[in-house]
Amino acid sequence: MLSNAFFLGKGGVGKTTMSAAFGLELSRSGMRVLVASLDPAHNLGDVYGAKLEDAPRQVEPRLFALEVDLGSWVERYLKESMEELKTTYSYAATMNLDSFFDIMKYSPGTEEYAVLWAIEHIHCDLSSGYDVVVYDTPPTALSLRFLAMPTISNLWIAELSKLRERILSKRQSITRINPASPVASSCVDKKDDKVYGRLSSIRKRLAGLSALFSAESYVAVVLNPDVLSVSEALRIKDELDRIDIPLSGLCLNKRGVSAAEWSLDPRLAASPVFDFNFLSGGLHNREDLRSLNTEKLVADFMATGKKGTS
Ligand SMILES: Nc1ncnc2c1ncn2[C@@H]1O[C@H](COP(=O)(O)OP(=O)(O)OP(=O)(O)O)[C@@H](O)[C@H]1O
Ligand SMILES: [Mg+2]
Repeated sequence: MLSNAFFLGKGGVGKTTMSAAFGLELSRSGMRVLVASLDPAHNLGDVYGAKLEDAPRQVEPRLFALEVDLGSWVERYLKESMEELKTTYSYAATMNLDSFFDIMKYSPGTEEYAVLWAIEHIHCDLSSGYDVVVYDTPPTALSLRFLAMPTISNLWIAELSKLRERILSKRQSITRINPASPVASSCVDKKDDKVYGRLSSIRKRLAGLSALFSAESYVAVVLNPDVLSVSEALRIKDELDRIDIPLSGLCLNKRGVSAAEWSLDPRLAASPVFDFNFLSGGLHNREDLRSLNTEKLVADFMATGKKGTS
């Protein structure tokens, strides 16, 4: 069975609601479930009526939830990067790394990497305690960037690794010609080179995340019966196609919320569609979440797992 589920979609369509209802249904059917919110503007705790933090808290006998503290993951990621810089490059010890920290904190990509390492932590350190981990994601832009990050970063890392191999081979040639050269005392072999080793280990981590997204996860897009959220769902599908992540299903939430004209693009209709009615009385507690009736979605999640392993 697949052991992860991601709910993506435009702001406000019901990603948190669907993640919470899906996780609740799975746990009440006997699974041990962790629902993790990756959205910096958390409201999973409000939906479950529980106070949540960066580590799992029990909501029901088999249901646990957490809200990732993205700020602390950004700090952790930057501190690790600085340590690596210091230990891998001796000249970095003489640089003013405090200014590096400030620049990196607001650099493009930092937040995406922080989300990735938070997911890696949940996957590697926590998920063995659960049958399924459900991820409630931030609005589309950030989610698509962190999902694409392993693929994009791996292209970079492959190029950097080639460059490093060329440097090492040049060093080898110089050492052969002139064993007295200062280069002869530096590392010439891939297997002893710290920089090459770092690149390989990052590549391995990213490959693990790539596999998690594309082969071990049920990726659902939530949309509403309106033109804008359908367009956004299409954009998400195109981007997922580009990075080789299969779209598992569509959650058409808030059915009946308005009488405005809308239609599901035929390109989306190829994926299984699950309908959820708009509850005009709102959602106030866990029993309201259950009245969304996620059984068919849960059944498809289970069947997808079986298909994937057969
Ligand atoms: N089927 C439904 N019937 C009635 N109200 C709903 C339904 N689904 C979601 N809502 C309500 O819509 C609002 C937005 O839902 P939710 O917070 O789950 O969306 P989201 O996609 O996670 O939003 P964000 O992008 O801000 O994280 C909430 O007030 C929620 O209670
Ligand atoms: Mg949300």
